[in-house]
Amino acid sequence: MPQTHLIAGNWKMNGLKSALPVAQAIAARSRNHPNARVALFPPATLLPLMAEALAGSAIILGGQDCHHADSGAYTGDVSAAMLKDAGAQMVILGHSERRHGHLEPCALVARKAQAALRAGLEPIICIGETLDQRQSGLTRQVLERQLTDSLPDELGRAAFHVSYEPVWAIGTGLAATDAQIEEAFALIRAHLHRRFGPDFVGHLLYGGSVKPHNARQILALPGISGALVGGASLTAEDFMPIVAGAD
Ligand code: PGA
Repeated sequence: MPQTHLIAGNWKMNGLKSALPVAQAIAARSRNHPNARVALFPPATLLPLMAEALAGSAIILGGQDCHHADSGAYTGDVSAAMLKDAGAQMVILGHSERRHGHLEPCALVARKAQAALRAGLEPIICIGETLDQRQSGLTRQVLERQLTDSLPDELGRAAFHVSYEPVWAIGTGLAATDAQIEEAFALIRAHLHRRFGPDFVGHLLYGGSVKPHNARQILALPGISGALVGGASLTAEDFMPIVAGAD
Protein backbone atom coordinates (compact mmCIF):
# COMPACT_ATOMS: atom_id res chain seq x y z
CA MET A 1 0.00 0.00 0.00
CA PRO A 2 1.39 3.44 -0.83
CA GLN A 3 2.53 5.61 2.04
CA THR A 4 0.14 8.25 3.40
CA HIS A 5 1.31 11.81 2.76
CA LEU A 6 0.35 14.95 4.66
CA ILE A 7 -0.78 17.62 2.21
CA ALA A 8 -0.94 20.84 4.20
CA GLY A 9 -2.47 24.02 2.82
CA ASN A 10 -1.30 27.22 4.49
CA TRP A 11 -3.73 30.01 3.61
CA LYS A 12 -1.48 32.65 5.22
CA MET A 13 -3.30 36.01 5.54
CA ASN A 14 -5.97 35.05 3.03
CA GLY A 15 -9.58 34.03 3.52
CA LEU A 16 -12.78 35.67 4.70
CA LYS A 17 -15.95 33.84 5.72
CA SER A 18 -16.84 33.76 2.04
CA ALA A 19 -13.93 31.32 1.51
CA LEU A 20 -15.46 28.57 3.69
CA PRO A 21 -17.04 26.84 0.65
CA VAL A 22 -13.50 26.39 -0.74
CA ALA A 23 -12.59 24.39 2.38
CA GLN A 24 -15.82 22.42 2.07
CA ALA A 25 -15.04 21.59 -1.56
CA ILE A 26 -11.54 20.47 -0.59
CA ALA A 27 -13.00 18.28 2.16
CA ALA A 28 -15.56 16.70 -0.15
CA ARG A 29 -13.07 15.99 -2.92
CA SER A 30 -10.39 14.72 -0.52
CA ARG A 31 -12.56 11.65 0.18
CA ASN A 32 -11.41 10.30 -3.19
CA HIS A 33 -7.76 10.39 -2.09
CA PRO A 34 -7.35 8.12 0.95
CA ASN A 35 -3.53 8.22 0.62
CA ALA A 36 -3.47 11.89 1.55
CA ARG A 37 -4.01 13.31 5.02
CA VAL A 38 -5.24 16.75 4.08
CA ALA A 39 -4.68 19.65 6.48
CA LEU A 40 -5.74 23.28 6.19
CA PHE A 41 -4.19 26.21 8.05
CA PRO A 42 -6.64 29.10 7.75
CA PRO A 43 -6.15 32.48 9.42
CA ALA A 44 -7.02 32.28 13.15
CA THR A 45 -10.26 34.20 12.58
CA LEU A 46 -11.58 31.43 10.32
CA LEU A 47 -10.42 28.48 12.40
CA PRO A 48 -13.53 27.94 14.57
CA LEU A 49 -15.85 28.59 11.63
CA MET A 50 -13.94 26.16 9.45
CA ALA A 51 -13.98 23.56 12.22
CA GLU A 52 -17.76 23.87 12.29
CA ALA A 53 -18.13 23.85 8.51
CA LEU A 54 -15.95 20.73 8.17
CA ALA A 55 -17.30 18.82 11.18
CA GLY A 56 -17.40 15.11 10.38
CA SER A 57 -14.82 15.37 7.59
CA ALA A 58 -11.30 13.93 7.76
CA ILE A 59 -9.63 17.31 7.19
CA ILE A 60 -7.08 18.23 9.85
CA LEU A 61 -7.03 21.88 10.90
CA GLY A 62 -4.10 23.88 12.19
CA GLY A 63 -2.91 27.30 13.19
CA GLN A 64 -0.24 29.29 11.34
CA ASP A 65 1.69 30.36 14.44
CA CYS A 66 1.23 30.57 18.21
CA HIS A 67 2.61 32.47 21.19
CA HIS A 68 5.18 30.84 23.47
CA ALA A 69 3.09 31.48 26.60
CA ASP A 70 -0.12 29.67 27.50
CA SER A 71 -2.02 32.89 28.30
CA GLY A 72 -1.40 36.39 29.59
CA ALA A 73 -0.98 40.04 28.68
CA TYR A 74 0.14 39.62 25.07
CA THR A 75 -1.99 41.95 22.96
CA GLY A 76 -2.75 40.61 19.53
CA ASP A 77 -1.30 37.15 20.08
CA VAL A 78 -2.93 33.73 19.98
CA SER A 79 -1.92 30.86 22.28
CA ALA A 80 -1.57 27.22 21.34
CA ALA A 81 -4.39 26.37 23.76
CA MET A 82 -6.65 28.86 21.95
CA LEU A 83 -5.86 27.24 18.61
CA LYS A 84 -6.62 23.83 20.09
CA ASP A 85 -9.84 25.16 21.58
CA ALA A 86 -10.82 26.51 18.14
CA GLY A 87 -10.38 23.10 16.51
CA ALA A 88 -6.68 22.92 15.59
CA GLN A 89 -4.64 19.73 15.82
CA MET A 90 -1.43 21.16 14.36
CA VAL A 91 0.48 24.43 14.22
CA ILE A 92 3.07 25.79 11.79
CA LEU A 93 6.07 27.33 13.56
CA GLY A 94 9.17 29.12 12.32
CA HIS A 95 7.79 29.81 8.85
CA SER A 96 10.19 32.08 7.00
CA GLU A 97 7.50 34.77 6.88
CA ARG A 98 7.67 34.76 10.71
CA ARG A 99 11.45 34.39 10.92
CA HIS A 100 12.12 37.18 8.44
CA GLY A 101 8.96 39.32 8.54
CA HIS A 102 8.76 39.30 12.36
CA LEU A 103 12.43 38.69 13.16
CA GLU A 104 11.65 35.52 15.12
CA PRO A 105 14.85 33.88 16.32
CA CYS A 106 15.29 30.10 16.52
CA ALA A 107 15.13 30.16 20.33
CA LEU A 108 11.64 31.66 20.16
CA VAL A 109 10.54 29.02 17.66
CA ALA A 110 11.72 26.37 20.14
CA ARG A 111 9.69 27.94 22.95
CA LYS A 112 6.64 28.06 20.69
CA ALA A 113 7.15 24.36 19.91
CA GLN A 114 7.17 23.63 23.64
CA ALA A 115 3.93 25.61 24.00
CA ALA A 116 2.39 23.66 21.11
CA LEU A 117 3.28 20.34 22.75
CA ARG A 118 1.86 21.51 26.11
CA ALA A 119 -1.42 22.27 24.34
CA GLY A 120 -1.48 18.94 22.53
CA LEU A 121 -0.78 20.35 19.07
CA GLU A 122 1.51 18.64 16.55
CA PRO A 123 4.08 21.21 15.43
CA ILE A 124 5.31 21.67 11.88
CA ILE A 125 8.66 23.42 12.25
CA CYS A 126 9.94 25.16 9.13
CA ILE A 127 13.57 25.67 8.28
CA GLY A 128 15.26 26.93 5.13
CA GLU A 129 18.06 29.02 3.73
CA THR A 130 17.82 32.31 1.83
CA LEU A 131 19.16 32.66 -1.71
CA ASP A 132 22.11 34.66 -0.40
CA GLN A 133 22.99 31.91 2.07
CA ARG A 134 22.77 29.22 -0.62
CA GLN A 135 24.89 31.22 -3.04
CA SER A 136 27.46 31.78 -0.30
CA GLY A 137 27.68 28.01 0.33
CA LEU A 138 26.10 28.34 3.78
CA THR A 139 23.04 26.12 3.30
CA ARG A 140 24.22 23.19 5.45
CA GLN A 141 25.44 25.46 8.20
CA VAL A 142 22.17 27.43 8.27
CA LEU A 143 19.97 24.32 8.33
CA GLU A 144 22.08 22.71 11.10
CA ARG A 145 21.84 25.84 13.23
CA GLN A 146 18.09 26.18 12.68
CA LEU A 147 17.57 22.53 13.62
CA THR A 148 19.78 22.72 16.70
CA ASP A 149 18.20 25.91 17.99
CA SER A 150 14.54 25.62 16.85
CA LEU A 151 13.79 22.03 17.91
CA PRO A 152 13.31 21.61 21.66
CA ASP A 153 14.39 18.34 23.31
CA GLU A 154 10.75 17.59 24.18
CA LEU A 155 10.18 16.66 20.52
CA GLY A 156 11.99 13.41 21.24
CA ARG A 157 8.78 12.10 22.75
CA ALA A 158 6.25 13.66 20.38
CA ALA A 159 4.95 13.48 16.83
CA PHE A 160 6.18 16.44 14.82
CA HIS A 161 7.11 17.54 11.32
CA VAL A 162 10.11 19.41 9.96
CA SER A 163 9.36 21.24 6.72
CA TYR A 164 12.29 22.12 4.48
CA GLU A 165 11.33 25.40 2.87
CA PRO A 166 14.08 27.23 1.02
CA VAL A 167 13.14 30.91 1.34
CA TRP A 168 13.93 31.50 -2.33
CA ALA A 169 11.36 28.86 -3.34
CA ILE A 170 8.43 30.32 -1.39
CA GLY A 171 5.94 32.18 -3.53
CA THR A 172 8.37 32.40 -6.45
CA GLY A 173 7.18 29.53 -8.64
CA LEU A 174 10.72 28.15 -8.43
CA ALA A 175 10.67 24.91 -6.43
CA ALA A 176 13.88 23.31 -5.19
CA THR A 177 15.24 20.50 -7.35
CA ASP A 178 14.93 16.87 -6.29
CA ALA A 179 18.65 16.82 -5.51
CA GLN A 180 18.42 19.94 -3.34
CA ILE A 181 15.48 18.52 -1.39
CA GLU A 182 17.18 15.13 -0.96
CA GLU A 183 20.37 16.77 0.27
CA ALA A 184 18.45 18.82 2.84
CA PHE A 185 16.43 15.76 3.94
CA ALA A 186 19.61 13.71 4.46
CA LEU A 187 20.97 16.45 6.70
CA ILE A 188 17.69 16.78 8.62
CA ARG A 189 17.35 13.03 9.05
CA ALA A 190 20.92 12.73 10.35
CA HIS A 191 20.26 15.55 12.81
CA LEU A 192 17.03 13.96 14.08
CA HIS A 193 18.78 10.60 14.51
CA ARG A 194 21.57 12.20 16.50
CA ARG A 195 19.19 14.21 18.66
CA PHE A 196 16.34 11.80 19.20
CA GLY A 197 17.68 8.34 18.40
CA PRO A 198 16.68 6.08 15.52
CA ASP A 199 13.01 5.86 16.56
CA PHE A 200 12.15 9.56 16.37
CA VAL A 201 8.64 10.30 15.19
CA GLY A 202 9.53 13.31 13.05
CA HIS A 203 8.23 13.50 9.52
CA LEU A 204 9.86 15.43 6.69
CA LEU A 205 7.86 17.80 4.52
CA TYR A 206 8.86 20.03 1.63
CA GLY A 207 7.42 23.49 1.01
CA GLY A 208 8.12 26.14 -1.62
CA SER A 209 6.19 26.48 -4.89
CA VAL A 210 4.55 23.06 -4.73
CA LYS A 211 2.09 23.24 -7.62
CA PRO A 212 -0.18 20.88 -9.56
CA HIS A 213 2.56 20.29 -12.17
CA ASN A 214 5.36 19.29 -9.77
CA ALA A 215 3.54 17.78 -6.77
CA ARG A 216 3.59 14.15 -7.91
CA GLN A 217 7.34 14.22 -8.59
CA ILE A 218 8.12 15.91 -5.26
CA LEU A 219 5.90 13.52 -3.29
CA ALA A 220 7.68 10.57 -4.90
CA LEU A 221 11.03 11.55 -3.36
CA PRO A 222 12.38 8.92 -0.97
CA GLY A 223 11.53 9.54 2.67
CA ILE A 224 9.23 12.51 2.07
CA SER A 225 6.12 12.58 4.26
CA GLY A 226 4.24 15.37 2.54
CA ALA A 227 4.14 18.95 1.35
CA LEU A 228 3.36 22.36 2.77
CA VAL A 229 1.53 24.35 0.13
CA GLY A 230 0.94 28.11 0.16
CA GLY A 231 -0.48 29.87 -2.90
CA ALA A 232 -1.80 26.72 -4.56
CA SER A 233 -3.91 25.82 -1.50
CA LEU A 234 -6.25 28.78 -1.92
CA THR A 235 -8.51 27.16 -4.50
CA ALA A 236 -9.78 23.59 -4.80
CA GLU A 237 -8.84 23.69 -8.50
CA ASP A 238 -5.15 24.14 -7.69
CA PHE A 239 -5.04 22.21 -4.42
CA MET A 240 -6.81 19.00 -5.43
CA PRO A 241 -4.32 17.99 -8.16
CA ILE A 242 -1.63 18.35 -5.46
CA VAL A 243 -3.63 16.13 -3.11
CA ALA A 244 -4.02 13.68 -6.00
CA GLY A 245 -0.24 13.67 -6.32
CA ALA A 246 -0.19 11.54 -3.17
CA ASP A 247 -2.23 8.74 -4.84
P1 PGA B 1 4.12 28.68 -1.73
O1 PGA B 1 4.31 28.81 -0.14
O2 PGA B 1 3.53 27.32 -1.99
O3 PGA B 1 3.17 29.79 -2.08
O4 PGA B 1 5.46 28.83 -2.35
C1 PGA B 1 4.87 27.74 0.55
C2 PGA B 1 4.99 28.05 2.01
O5 PGA B 1 5.05 29.23 2.38
O6 PGA B 1 5.02 27.12 2.82
